Amino acid sequence: MNKKIFLSSDHGGFELKTSVINFLKEGNYDVEDLGCFSLESVDYPDYANLMAKNIKNNINSFGILFCGTGIGVSIAANRHSHIRAALCTSVEMASKSRKHNDANVLALGGRILNNLIIKDIVFQFLNTDFEEGRHRLRVNKL
Ligand code: RB5
Repeated sequence: MNKKIFLSSDHGGFELKTSVINFLKEGNYDVEDLGCFSLESVDYPDYANLMAKNIKNNINSFGILFCGTGIGVSIAANRHSHIRAALCTSVEMASKSRKHNDANVLALGGRILNNLIIKDIVFQFLNTDFEEGRHRLRVNKL
């Protein structure tokens, strides 16, 4: 059974969030859009904090955060101790962020990434398991 996926963005990530939601819905993923809901300028920490709150209440869920670069939302999200947000610009990073870091949030840059690679990054993240063992010891130290 697929985990619930929360998605949230500022205006810089709004368009990419919309296209990711569309393809996840087509694949029957359980998604919830936490906003923002237009291109009107908003503050990315508000949306990263909202994401963190939702993940705290659904501890086995995943999150996907978007801003212009993915940097702001990842900094903000990682201030919450239950969040391990990984800013990924490649499929390899998405894979390693799950295998090695047990990332529960994927951060993406709407003004950085080419649409062709997005699907691959998102599906790699959602479908890669954490590798227990030595990585668990390290993640526990975070
Ligand atoms: C908003 O213009 C932009 O600063 C924001 O989307 C993000 O890139 C911040 O890290």
